[in-house]
Parts: sequence; structure tokens; C-alpha cells
Amino acid sequence: MGMSLASLLYPVIKPLLFRLDAEAAHELTTRMMRVTHSLGLLGREAIADGPPVSVMGLNFPNRLGLAAGMDKSAAAVDAWSKLGFGMVEVGTLTPRPQTGNPKPRLFRLPEHRALINRMGFNNPGIHSAVERLRHRQAKAVVGVNIGKNFDTPNETAVEDYLICLRATYDVADYVAVNISSPNTKGLRDLQSENAIRSLLIAVRAEQETLKGKTGRTVPVVVKIAPDLTGEGISDLVRVFNEVGVDGVIATNTTIDHNSVRPHKFADEIGGLSGEPVRKRSDEVLTAFRAGLRPEIPLIGVGGIVTGADAAEKRRLGADLVQIYSGLVFRGPILIKEATQMLVDRHGK
Ligand SMILES: Cc1cc2nc3c(=O)[nH]c(=O)nc-3n(C[C@H](O)[C@H](O)[C@H](O)COP(=O)(O)O)c2cc1C
Repeated sequence: MGMSLASLLYPVIKPLLFRLDAEAAHELTTRMMRVTHSLGLLGREAIADGPPVSVMGLNFPNRLGLAAGMDKSAAAVDAWSKLGFGMVEVGTLTPRPQTGNPKPRLFRLPEHRALINRMGFNNPGIHSAVERLRHRQAKAVVGVNIGKNFDTPNETAVEDYLICLRATYDVADYVAVNISSPNTKGLRDLQSENAIRSLLIAVRAEQETLKGKTGRTVPVVVKIAPDLTGEGISDLVRVFNEVGVDGVIATNTTIDHNSVRPHKFADEIGGLSGEPVRKRSDEVLTAFRAGLRPEIPLIGVGGIVTGADAAEKRRLGADLVQIYSGLVFRGPILIKEATQMLVDRHGK
């Protein structure tokens, strides 16, 4: 298969985008995606690259996904699917809309193929995103990533997740419980053993109730941070194995910026993503694969900038992988590269 129009154009568009402020470039890209898609100009359907794979009882057109945060409001799901993604994770969405942190809050570090962001869950609220998702035509599996509002105290955070789970249950293919973004105060504390146990028990019970009501089984996965200690990892592994989760996404962005010092943006507060997070993400992925019950699938994300990086995640135990920063620096060519490298030798 030849290069898609989007892949051919990206090298031309990229220098123009990179002259814009990072968030303005992001908004413009989303708009271009919607327009080119509505004109029928976006590439092949995801299905083109490799045979479908079954994970968590869902059929994925391929093993590559768009990571959460690129399409927080579910604005361009059909377009992302057309670009070749087998999975699109929208969000993070919270019960009520919120504007996020003051700008600037997104920084490029091109020398490192990295980004630092402190967006803070800017999003239109779960209900608005859900209405958009009802009308989707995408072949890609659509995950809905959920979180808590910034002003919800951790003591009542469980309720925010349950509100989002209920709101999205009839439209989501899977739901991702985000307890690992560094930009919502206290969110990562939900990764502590007791907090995650009560959260998961409540989420599991609600999932059962909703299953009974709707007749649908919607898998619930948990997204974790790369900054966990060895002890933090074994605590989570134990709780996940005990309470049960349908999958684990490893990992979110890192708060450790040492790898990009002395870059002028190294001391910007926020989560670091892209190439510098790959090694730690791979380590955490490996640790979870070693500890988790083998039937619990893993979604590997963090620092994939080449097809080989994607294949390495697969080798370390990821059933599916996701990308964000790599797409910013490489463009749609990475989608093709990664999906091809993710097809197993026996064609799965
Ligand atoms: C600007 C930006 C916003 C993000 N927003 C979210 C988010 O809302 N929820 C979430 O779970 N992860 C979010 N992420 C994290 C990504 O989904 C991904 O886990 C992380 O960037 C590592 O992958 P990468 O190295 O391929 O970018 C965001 C990342 C970036 C760069």
C-alpha cells in the first residue's frame, strides 16, 4: 500500500505547525482532520493493516491506538479511525466541563522528541462527549478515559468515576479509569493500595449493575503512572489480581524531568512524554506483565516514536499499544510503520 495523502503532506505542514504555539497547532490539526475527513480525503480504514485481533472480548482492526489526551472531547473519532488507528481513546472526561490550567500549558522539546504538558483535564464534560460518540461511524474501537473534576476532593472521587461510568456505559467500547495524570492535584494518590482497592471495588460493582441493565459487557481498564516505585507496582498488581480489572494501560506521562535537563522547558511543571519516558514505561510494562494474572491484557504506551518501539512493547507483553507524542514529531507515517510492525509473524 502506498503512502496516504496525510503522510505525504505532514512533512510540509509540520514546520508551519511547529511555528505556532503548541496548543494552537493542536487545535488547528484537529480542525484540519475534521475538514479533510468530511471531504473524504483521509486515508484508508484501519482495517487495511493486518488482520483484526480480539482483546478483552473486543475486535480491534489492528493493535495500534491513539492515546488519551489527543482527542479529549471526542471531536474527530471517525477521522482518527480513517487515519489508520485500530483504537481511539477519547478523554480524559470528567463529570462536569472544566477549562483546565492557565495557558501556556503545553511545551515542545523537539531535541528530545518530547512534550511537557499540564493541561489539567480541559474537557467539555462526559455528557457532551457521549452525545458525540453516539453518532460515530468509526471502525476503530473507542475507549472513554474518565477522571475526576479538579475540585472534587479525593474522599468523594469514587462518585466522579461512577458518574462517568454510568454516563458512558452504553456508548463506550471500553472505559479507562485514569488515576495517573500528574496535573490534577491528588489524583495519583488514588494509586495507593487502599484508595485503588475501594475505587475498583465500587467500579466493578457498578459495572455489574450496568451489565444487568444494558445486557452489554464493557471492559474497564486502569491507566497507571510510570513514576511508581517497586513497592507501588507490587501493591497495584496485588489489588488488580484480587479485585480484577479487564486490562491495564502502562503508562501515563512522567514527572521526572531529569532526562531533558538542561532544556529551557525542563523545569516547566507537568508530565513529560515522548522518547524520554520510553525506558521507564517499558520497565513498568515488564513488571506488570510479570506480576499480573496472564489473562489480564496490557496496553503499552509511552515513548513510541518508531515502529520498532511499538514492536518492543509487544515483545515485552503488550497486547495493544498507543501513541501520542510520536505522532506529533513523526506524523501519520508512524501509524503505518507501527501497525505493520505490530502484525505478528503468524499474521495476528
Ligand atoms: C498534551 C497531552 C495531553 C494528555 N492528556 C491525557 C489525558 O487527558 N488523559 C490521559 O490518560 N493521558 C493523557 N496524556 C498521556 C498520554 O495518553 C500518554 O499516556 C503519554 O503521553 C505517553 O505516551 P507518548 O510518549 O506516546 O506521548 C496526555 C499526553 C499529552 C502529551
